[in-house]
Amino acid sequence: MWDDLKRHHQTVKDRPILSLFDDPGRAESFSVRVGDLLLDYSKTNIDRDGLRHLTGLLDAAGVAAKRDAMFAGARINETEGRAVLHTALRNLDGGPVIVDGQDVMPGVLDTLQRMEAFATAIREGQEAGQGGRYTDVINIGIGGSDLGPKMGAIALAPYHDGPRTHFVSNVDPADIADVLRACDPATTLVIVASKTFTTQETMANARTAKAWMSQSVPDAARQFAALSTDLAKTGAFGIDPSRVFGFEDWVGGRYSMWGPIGLSLMIAIGPEAFRAFLRGGQAMDLHFRSAEWHENMPALLALVGIWHNQVCDHATRAVLPYDNRLMRLPAYLQQLEMESNGKRVSMDGAPLAVHSGSVVWGEPGTNGQHAFYQLIHQGTRVIPCEFLVAARGSEDDLHHQHQLLIANGLAQSEALMRGRTMDEARALMAAKGLSGDELERQASHRVFPGNRPSTTLAYPRLDPFTLGQIVALYEHRVFVEGAVLGINSYDQWGVELGKELANTLAPMVTGEQGTSGKDASTAGLVEFLRANGA
Ligand code: F6P
Repeated sequence: MWDDLKRHHQTVKDRPILSLFDDPGRAESFSVRVGDLLLDYSKTNIDRDGLRHLTGLLDAAGVAAKRDAMFAGARINETEGRAVLHTALRNLDGGPVIVDGQDVMPGVLDTLQRMEAFATAIREGQEAGQGGRYTDVINIGIGGSDLGPKMGAIALAPYHDGPRTHFVSNVDPADIADVLRACDPATTLVIVASKTFTTQETMANARTAKAWMSQSVPDAARQFAALSTDLAKTGAFGIDPSRVFGFEDWVGGRYSMWGPIGLSLMIAIGPEAFRAFLRGGQAMDLHFRSAEWHENMPALLALVGIWHNQVCDHATRAVLPYDNRLMRLPAYLQQLEMESNGKRVSMDGAPLAVHSGSVVWGEPGTNGQHAFYQLIHQGTRVIPCEFLVAARGSEDDLHHQHQLLIANGLAQSEALMRGRTMDEARALMAAKGLSGDELERQASHRVFPGNRPSTTLAYPRLDPFTLGQIVALYEHRVFVEGAVLGINSYDQWGVELGKELANTLAPMVTGEQGTSGKDASTAGLVEFLRANGA
């Protein structure tokens, strides 16, 4: 299959994408809708044959069966022996989900109701700090225990009507110090979000927050809540079980914002808006499970990615939201995609025959236009772009600015595809009064190669339901890519080595141990930093 695709790529790689629009039905045929979401992938070099080869990959890899196994609670995370069921967290009215012969839904819905009661009590003041009604909530967590709720809290800021929300993730004390300085310990709730409740950074920050709180209130632990799978450890930290919201090991960290890890978001926007977010995710699940491949938005988004990365060899992909409040979406997707599909071997341990998932990066438009778009337009590497654009923002009185935003987003995808030829550049220079050698010299700087692919995801407005659809869309995109590659998208052994070495280095940095056994570079850096005050 890969060989067929690569052969097909050779035959079309120099074809202008623009020429595909000679077919008047191109935009319609290479777009897909789910509810009021539109994904347009017509500005890529994928044609009907390419799509046939690409969907062939799905059939060859048995993606439909793998998808059904995931939703059915099979232990598809084989290296950890776990089911993968974050979808159960948003299965609000979808019936039973069975793991090991047990329906997990009663537990999921019970925890959701407990979260809602807790969030409501905080928002309405029945649950208060020792100095009065909660004014601030600090979520302490890292990776999947931070990126989702933080991205969501920024995305849904117009819906934020609860206490102020802060996020602390980095073990760098600068992170927590800046947040604590802005909060009153007597009216602050600290949520320790950690699936394992062992993560070094999170536990260090949690202890710091507890010490800070203890200086001001008689019972610091009373103003702590925990989100974790390990109830013994949350108890040992002193957090009362009534403020602990547990989840099961079948919820992966980077897929966890739908459940207890989303508590800070729920407190910020309220349980009703949080349910709308869950319903958005569930709507995308229903679509993913039932739509044919050629109409299946997550599958098509994944196939476009596979075409660009594994077939065309474009190693990175820019995610460019023309929606400023999605500013943390690229960071969120970096963990979701790169921790999931950054794997070198397939499920059976054999090296991959093609590249693993791509490097994901990005910034909101229009800011990126004034920073790195130069390279996207005229650099020597092709960087497929993924634009996201809303028809309306939340600032109805400033809609004229939003219209400018839309025009900019659409202009970029058009410019990437069209480019500007040497003849056009020459005409431009001639119109400016240049001629001869100077015209030639100037014109070549103004040529845009064009033929650079992009997709655009368009939606009416960034509300909780839409955000739920978008996050679930990307989750399933990851699933499809992982299933095609035959990898385990749900483990993350690649983060372990660094963690282990950090533990061996910590006593060297404090000076409790010498640096013997370390390479000369690492030892030299430790010595330099110690000599300078570390
Ligand atoms: O970076 C590794 C990782 O395990 C992520 O997968 C996870 O989201 C993060 O650390 C935080 O883990 P925990 O929620 O257990 O603190």
